[in-house]
Order: sequence, then C-alpha cells, then structure tokens
Amino acid sequence: MSMKITEISINGFKNLKDINVSPHPKLNIFCGDNAQGKTNLIEAVWLCSGVRSFRSTKDKDMIDISGEVMSIALRFKNREREQEICYRMAKPYLKDKNCSVNGVRVKAPSKLFGRLNCVVFTPEDLELSKGSPDKRRQFLDLSAAQIKNSYKLVTEKYDQILEQRNTLLKNISFGRSDRDELDVWDMQLAQMGAYITLLRYNYSKKLGAYASKLYSEISSGRESLELRYSSTVFGELEGRTDYRNDLAAEYLECIRCCRDEDIRLGFTGKGVHRDDLTAFINGLPARDFASQGQHRSAALVLKLAQANILLDETGEAPVFLLDDVLSELDPSRQEFVISKIDNMQVFITCCDENIPENKTGKFYRIKGGRIVR
Ligand SMILES: Nc1ncnc2c1ncn2[C@@H]1O[C@H](COP(=O)(O)OP(=O)(O)OP(=O)(O)O)[C@@H](O)[C@H]1O
Ligand SMILES: [Mg+2]
Repeated sequence: MSMKITEISINGFKNLKDINVSPHPKLNIFCGDNAQGKTNLIEAVWLCSGVRSFRSTKDKDMIDISGEVMSIALRFKNREREQEICYRMAKPYLKDKNCSVNGVRVKAPSKLFGRLNCVVFTPEDLELSKGSPDKRRQFLDLSAAQIKNSYKLVTEKYDQILEQRNTLLKNISFGRSDRDELDVWDMQLAQMGAYITLLRYNYSKKLGAYASKLYSEISSGRESLELRYSSTVFGELEGRTDYRNDLAAEYLECIRCCRDEDIRLGFTGKGVHRDDLTAFINGLPARDFASQGQHRSAALVLKLAQANILLDETGEAPVFLLDDVLSELDPSRQEFVISKIDNMQVFITCCDENIPENKTGKFYRIKGGRIVR
C-alpha cells in the first residue's frame, strides 16, 4: 500500500499561480526551464507534510512578492480514507498560519506532521554522507519521527532544554548564576538524551540493513556500505534498552563530568546534539574517503532505505519527491532509483533534456509558475 496524492491546488506560493492538478497514482513528471517553479511545487507539497522547508524558506518569502495570500491544498489517500490538508497564509499576518486537516484547524504547520509522509530528495541531499553531521542528525530524527510521531516532540523539547542549559553555562562563567542550577537541566537532558540515543540507534540499525543491501545492488556487488551510530556519550549501545535507568544514568554522569569544560566553553560539548551517523564504504569512513559517486550512491540508498522502513513500519509507502536529481545521476543510477520507487507515488522535476523515457505517468510543463498545456 502506498500513500497517494489525488489533488494539488496551489496559488500564490512563491511564483506559483492557479496550479490545479490531479496527479497520476504512480509517476508525475514536472518539466521546465530554470526558475519556472519546479522546486517551488515540490516544496509546497513538502510543507503539507508538516516539516519545515528543505530549503529553509522564510515565512515572508513563501507568499508571492507581488501578492497578498498563498494557499496550498492537497487531497491524499492513505489506507483508511481520503484526507485534505490546507496551508494558507496572508500578509501581513505571517505568524497566523491557517493550517487544517480535513477542515479542522490545527495550531501550527508542525501539527500537520504525521498525516502525509513524504521522502524528499534534492541535489543538496547528494552530500548527505559528506556534509556536516547536523544534516545527518536531521535526517535521522525526521525519518525516525515519521514512524513514531511522538519522537518529534522529544527532540524539540531536548533542543529547548539544551538552549537553556547553554544560556545558564554562560551565566555561570560570568558569575551571574550558580553551578548547582545545572542539576535540573542535566537531569532532563540525560533522560531525553538517553531516549533519543536509543531511538536513533535502533533506527540506524534498520536503516543500515536496507542501505547495505541497496548499496551492494547499486554498485553491482563490488562495494559495501555500513552505517554506525556514533554517540558522543556511549561507548557501546548494543543490547542496551533501559533508557530510563541504565542509559540515563550513564548519560548524566557523562555530562556531569564535562561540567567544567562546558562552563569554560559556554556550551554543552557532549550529547545527542553532537552525535553522528557514520557511513563506511568498503570499511572506510565515507566522509573522509568516499568519491563523489560513492557519496551520491550513499545518499540515494539512505533515502530509499527511509522509504522502505516507512513501508515496513506503517504499512504504507510514502510519497517520493525527487527534485532535479536525475540529471545529477548517471543512467544506471537513474534506472536504479526509478526501479526502486516503482511501488510508490513519485513526483519528479527535471529540465527538458532529462525527461525519463518510456514511463507511464503524467507529464506536466511548468512555465512562469503555471502549468501550461
Ligand atoms: N516569494 C516569491 N514571490 C515570487 N516569486 C518567487 C518568490 N520566491 C521565489 N520566487 C521565484 O521562483 C522562481 C524559482 O522557482 P524554483 O526554485 O521552483 O525554480 P526551478 O523551476 O526549480 O528552477 P531550477 O531548474 O533552476 O531549479 C524564481 O524565479 C524566483 O524568483
Ligand atoms: Mg529547482
């Protein structure tokens, strides 16, 4: 079973105007010259999944520069029923976003999360195994939250507590606060951090299993990929499950030990906010050793693994959004991706030269923010 978007209406989101399409259940190709609105369309769909823009668009830049309102509405079908998600915003009330699910207003765009699951793949993602750990943590957290929605709140809370602890650290070093005040924050960080570690660790194992298999396929069995969750707090995590006691206690001890150093630095040096997901290709850390092609393959299989896990865990494949990446891949990798997302609804954007051939689906041309022909 896979989720399927059945209708998309967009108006006033960036340069998009009067978009009304009923997508094909499988393949949808949006084609056009540069700067016509292809990525904007993918971004609009993505926003309805309740996750912040993958290109960090500011609120004010979501609305057409020369317009006043923007509106995105999607209908999609999951196993249970057809649902509708709307996301609207008007100048100058940018804080007051009007988001709703099946006509019922939700408090914020983030509350749309957990309805429509999407996996997005953009040219920036091609650097996933190469870029900063931050991107990989985001990837892990989002992917894990898609199968366990409540996890998102825990990571958000962790970030808040971390920020408060960091402020306190600075205050202590300026002599404005007392060291003992750290106790309450450390306790909370340890509890949440232990939980986050365990969740990410378990998720990484699932991800690793799929990614290794896919990587072996994409390299025709010539290369291997292994994923490892690198914790800044724990040495060994295998076999440990008691995050409330065992893991939380060790976590607490670790941050307590780093107190002096943290006060000196003015930030928290160890914890899940510094962890990483390390990819090894042929036994070597990809970040330092992999070639460009290897990074691309690694990024691809990570996203495909994410989609596979979603299908396993929720019984429904996500909607797969491929923005402009086919052109970045050689024909055999293109063929590989397309074959692996065969069972999902896919939205692909590309320039004219890169239209995948002989595929059944719908084809749209975007020009000046409109669908033409
Ligand atoms: N707030 C806005 N109001 C009006 N137009 C905007 C706004 N934000 C971005 N745009 C316009 O949208 C266009 C870019 O759209 P988009 O990124 O979707 O292009 P694209 O078709 O994906 O191009 P490429 O092939 O280069 O990736 C640009 O021309 C940009 O000026
Ligand atoms: Mg684009």
